[in-house]
Amino acid sequence: MRVTFLLLLTIFFIVVQKSLCDPLVLIEEGITEYFRTRTRPGYLENSIREALIRTSSKLGEDGMHCALCRIVTKIVIEYRRAGTNNEIIGDIGKDLCTLFADIGYVTCVGYIDLTIDTFVFIIDNKPDITPERFCAIRLQEYGCVDPNYVPWRIDLPPGRSPSLPRRPSGQTTSVLHLTDIHYDPLYQPESNADCEDVLCCEITSGIPKQAIHEAGFWGDYRPCDMPWQSFENLLSQVKNKHRIDSVYLTGDIISHQVWNTSKEYNQLYITQVLEKIQHTFGTTPVYPILGNHEAHPTDFYPPNSVEGDFSISWLLDYVAEEWSRWLPTSTLTTIRQGGFYTVLVKPGFRIIALNSNVCFTNNIWLVYDDVDPYNQLQWLSDTLLEAEKNQEAVHILSHIPPGDIECSQQWSHEFRRIIER
Ligand SMILES: *[C@@H]1O[C@H](CO)[C@@H](O)[C@H](O)[C@H]1NC(C)=O
Repeated sequence: MRVTFLLLLTIFFIVVQKSLCDPLVLIEEGITEYFRTRTRPGYLENSIREALIRTSSKLGEDGMHCALCRIVTKIVIEYRRAGTNNEIIGDIGKDLCTLFADIGYVTCVGYIDLTIDTFVFIIDNKPDITPERFCAIRLQEYGCVDPNYVPWRIDLPPGRSPSLPRRPSGQTTSVLHLTDIHYDPLYQPESNADCEDVLCCEITSGIPKQAIHEAGFWGDYRPCDMPWQSFENLLSQVKNKHRIDSVYLTGDIISHQVWNTSKEYNQLYITQVLEKIQHTFGTTPVYPILGNHEAHPTDFYPPNSVEGDFSISWLLDYVAEEWSRWLPTSTLTTIRQGGFYTVLVKPGFRIIALNSNVCFTNNIWLVYDDVDPYNQLQWLSDTLLEAEKNQEAVHILSHIPPGDIECSQQWSHEFRRIIER
């Protein structure tokens, strides 16, 4: 009797003490224990929930999200360095993902299966990686700080770029700008539009609980992508109602089913969409660029130095070939180098098509090497100087907007220096 009472009292004090503790301390203890014992301690879920509810961190402020990110990253790096294998890190990662993020179980499990080897490769091959660096890049939108960050610079030509005299020709041109088509081959009308994952309205999204949750025929404003019939209909409307002189196709043909991408299927759907556009508009020139969703895994654009399984050549070589239905052979070299190119559309007017997906903060390869990936910005500066000498006006196409909170600050900064020269 007495012993039981004492025991209960002790448990009571431990519980009270734990919950009075800073949730961050508990979370660090809990995750460390998770990695050591491979069993999630009971209090971890609540501590995480509490930390996320209590968080006052706003966008652009190094607060709770950054602190949590650094804790998790530090433990993962430590345990990997001590020899923990990909499978164990992946399994704990999946579980923590479902606790921390609201992207749903299916997305967490599938996306981590696709990406765990990349994460581990980066930890293994980047001996000076720090939690500060990882979080400052990945959670830039929360203003996470890396005090040891070393900025890099693009060599700009001396002087300032003169403004081009305006010479109105009296002619107009009409450009069809297509972007973020996100064609979903698995879209299913009347499927569940109200699911837990990042993408719904698919055969696998479950059965809708009520009629109001059913996916529409042409698409749905809930987290759903575009069915083929809507894309077809869109193109035929444009074709029948407008005169189109050229098409800017600025990326993200692939759907948001990020947990189930593959090189083969991404290639298949890219070709399917490009063929449809070519078939619709005939000889009208099309200027395509890459989106973050064309990569596999989604968002991952590794630098040229990365070879083998992780290399991005499969995509760059593929689009070099696919885009050649519209682009001259002079574009092949830079497309194969990094997915960017320039074309003189007519005397005095040039297009520069970028692969700005390298700057997207979801592109984890920025942690590995963020110095002007593919030498693209240096090339941009050089190409603009040539255009300047030839008195050309230029349109720059880009999928991730430079200056966006999710585009690497350093990349945006150098882009801006180039543009503002
Ligand atoms: C994964 O993607 C492929 C290609 O789109 C598709 O055939 C397959 O049904 C998908 N699997 C699931 C579970 O959605």
